Amino acid sequence: MAVELVKTTERTYPIYLEQDFSRLPKAMEEAGLTGRTVCIITDSNVDGLYGAQVQEALAPVSKKVHKIFFPAGEMQKNLGSIRHFYEAFFQAGLDRKSVIVALGGGVTGDMAGFAAATFLRGIAFVQIPTTLLAQVDSSVGGKVGVDFDGHKNAVGAFYQPHFVYINAKTLRTLPKREFSAGMAEVIKYGPIWDMDFFSQLEEKKEALLALEEETLLSVIGRCCAIKAEVVGQDEKESGLREILNFGHTIGHAIETASRFSLLHGECVGLGMIAIGSLCEKRGTVEQGFTKRLSQLLEAFSLPLTVSGLTVEEIDRQMAFDKKVKNGAIGFVLLSSAGVPLRTTCVTEEERKEAIAFVLAQ
Ligand SMILES: NC(=O)c1ccc[n+]([C@@H]2O[C@H](COP(=O)([O-])OP(=O)(O)OC[C@H]3O[C@@H](n4cnc5c(N)ncnc54)[C@H](O)[C@@H]3O)[C@@H](O)[C@H]2O)c1
Ligand SMILES: [Zn+2]
Repeated sequence: MAVELVKTTERTYPIYLEQDFSRLPKAMEEAGLTGRTVCIITDSNVDGLYGAQVQEALAPVSKKVHKIFFPAGEMQKNLGSIRHFYEAFFQAGLDRKSVIVALGGGVTGDMAGFAAATFLRGIAFVQIPTTLLAQVDSSVGGKVGVDFDGHKNAVGAFYQPHFVYINAKTLRTLPKREFSAGMAEVIKYGPIWDMDFFSQLEEKKEALLALEEETLLSVIGRCCAIKAEVVGQDEKESGLREILNFGHTIGHAIETASRFSLLHGECVGLGMIAIGSLCEKRGTVEQGFTKRLSQLLEAFSLPLTVSGLTVEEIDRQMAFDKKVKNGAIGFVLLSSAGVPLRTTCVTEEERKEAIAFVLAQ
């Protein structure tokens, strides 16, 4: 079993990289979580695929294993769902020693983590991410929360899990489009941290597309290691952690302006291309960098342009996001390929040119 470690002030915890659920009992044992009442939280899609398997795997090492699910989708990521969870926790007789298990994508992980962080002032929780995005990003680092009145992730906490258990085989049932969207977040780690990793992705793209488990696990493992390193240095996002938002400033504006017809990862891919073009123009990355980035994104069927939107619409959305955050628009640029640069110094002209670069003619 390959393991990555996340070191935070709350605790140091392992990320298990596996091809099935067979080592889940051992992981519970190592975390000191056996003999407890467990409540699995999952969504309506994942429940039918893996709910029973995970419940069975946990039963021998637990006092009792309950399972609750909610209708899949970001729409459900709100306080109403959390309220239902609390009600179910009381009905199931959960106490301070109980364990919450998040089984699903980022929506499930963020909500189950938030419920765990707040129920009885915090009970143990475990992440079993089943989307690529959740495996390489959201399940690691302890950001949990819900959306509120249209404000994304506006209510939440930093709350670390006891461990993260990744079963790469779960990606076999993930819709192709969701897998591709997750690949955008995988690719992101190249420009901000490790261009050798980026080259490996270029070499291994066929194996990744074929969902070859060994390749998947090594790639997911590298992403987790980078995220763990970044989170370890800046747990509460007061600085360095912002580099994980590479491609996200413009990406998020496109996501909102497109009224969520594009997936988050698809927009992050577009945002990265836009920033790539800006950096190329500034001369901080070599000519052809953006083309190389676009080719890799395209290999995973990610869009290189977006249609039906104007520069002004996207720019206005960015200004609105800025107002909500009460400051200047923060960007993650590249001071060279593989080295991020956090800055608010981007001119309006640069910004608009970068956006225009990803708009379909
Ligand atoms: N906490 C963080 O640091 C962090 C980081 C990035 C994103 N996020 C959050 O993550 C969320 C997005 O996560 P997501 O993309 O995983 O979305 P998601 O949880 O909605 O999952 C996407 C879809 O895939 C389905 N699914 C999940 N696993 C499956 C599987 N193995 N087989 C078949 N279907 C499966 C789900 O039911 C859902 O329909 C957003 O709410 C975002 O804010 C959080
Ligand atoms: Zn993202």
